[in-house]
Formats: sequence, C-alpha cells, structure tokens
Amino acid sequence: MTGPIGIFDSGYGGLTVFKEIAAQLPLYDYIYLGDNARAPYGGRSFEVIYKYTLECVETLFNMGCPLVILACNTASAKALRTIQQQDLQRWEPWRRVLGVIRPTAEIIGNYTQTGQIGILATAGTVQSSSYLLEIAHFFPELQVHQEACPMWVPLIENQEHEGAGADFFVQKNITRLLHQAPQMDTLVLGCTHYPLMWSKIRQFTPASIQLLSQGPIVAQSLADYLIRHPEKEQRCSKGGSRTFLTTEADPNASEKGSLFYGQPLFMQQIELN
Ligand code: DGL
Repeated sequence: MTGPIGIFDSGYGGLTVFKEIAAQLPLYDYIYLGDNARAPYGGRSFEVIYKYTLECVETLFNMGCPLVILACNTASAKALRTIQQQDLQRWEPWRRVLGVIRPTAEIIGNYTQTGQIGILATAGTVQSSSYLLEIAHFFPELQVHQEACPMWVPLIENQEHEGAGADFFVQKNITRLLHQAPQMDTLVLGCTHYPLMWSKIRQFTPASIQLLSQGPIVAQSLADYLIRHPEKEQRCSKGGSRTFLTTEADPNASEKGSLFYGQPLFMQQIELN
C-alpha cells in the first residue's frame, strides 16, 4: 500500500516548507493540513500542543499517509518526541513522523564563522529548549541564543507583517537578540511563518548576519532521508498531486494560503478524526 506524504502546520506557515519540498521532490503525492481553526499554537501549553498535533497526525495517517512532516517548529519542539516514542507504536511499523528542528540542527554549524548562532522562534519553541539541545548534540562548541517573538505569527496570520506596526516588534526582538549575542553571524528563522517577514527581518538585522529559513534545509533533509530509507520511499505514492486542507471555515483560506505557498492553491475545510 502506498500513500501521500503528509505535511502539517498549525496554520499556513508550513506552506513555506512545503513549497520547497514540492519543488525539490515533485513526483510524490502530498496532503497539506493546516490547523487554522486552533492556530496559533506558539503560546499554548505542552499538553495542548501535543493533543492538537497528534489529532492532526492521526487524521493524516487515516488518509493513508505513510510519512508525516511536522512543518511547524512549535509542534516539532513540543509534540514530536512524545508522538514518536508513545503513539507511533499504535500504528503500523512503517509509519513515520519527522520534524523541522533536527534537520536545521544537523547543518547549522556549517554556516557560522564566529560560532554564535541566533534563533528567532515562538515562545513554545524557545521554552522547550529543543534548538539548544539538538544543536549541542551535533555542534557542542556553538553558542546558541534564542529570542521568543510571540507577536510575529499573529501579525503574519493577520497580514499585518509588512505594515509599520510590525516594525516595532521586529526591531525589538532582533535588538534584544543582538544584545545577547553581539558576535552572532547566523540567524535561524525558527518558525515556518517567518519567511513571510523576510524583508522586514532583513531590514532590522545587520548585513553581516546571514538569515536562514528552513524550507530548503528541510527539503534537502527529506530527499536524503528517502534515499537512505528505500523501504519508506516505496511507501510514498508518486502521482504528483497536491491537496490542501484546513480545519477552519474561512472563505479566504485559499487566497491566504497562496501567499505562503507562492502560487495559487485551493484549500478545503475538513473535520479532524
Ligand atoms: N509555524 C509554526 C512554527 O514553525 C508556529 C506558528 C504558531 O504559533 O502556531 O513554530
């Protein structure tokens, strides 16, 4: 039995990752699921993020997905490990769930000269310390500094991220991070929504600091994973289809989603099961 690759995010942010995955691995079938009815996840507790993420992963499994990518840092930080360790065993042994933090941690040391890295992320991701732990595993010599940006996802989801109102919060968070890490030369956009604010983040970040968004990194990591695991790759169907699902009844969902995906898409509402 084969099935589509599932891509999950709390809202539209995961579309910035899906866009890169679909460009790099176009042959596969994909189902994108955004839990827009309950987004943002960033400020919620571990228990709630885990419960919501599990419901979405199980919905994608029930649709036949052999592999689900949590294209959401907050869900990767707060729910991935528990799902992998506790919940996957209730499913067929070939089901897999992968996140976006580990692929970023695995390569981040290749980008820095000063050894000082910054992470911009939601409060949930920062509180979990997942980036600190994962990066320490691969590059123990690096200094990693984090800054929670709780206003950024609401600004983006409300399409206020290019307006003057966003300047205050973007400048405030980046200034605070620079204060912690004056030698920082690499800044990770550790939330899949943030690439939408790329130009605003660039505007308030010194030119000597490179910005990294996760889409290309996660796409390359998935391509490598499928090569390393041919038995998993054979479970992924190859019809080139893309299905976009959301939990919210929003007549503008397709229009909003296309801003993140970079091309027109049609988003259908579903009930989770
Ligand atoms: N896009 C998600 C992430 O990467 C979080 C958005 C939210 O707060 O729901 O963390």
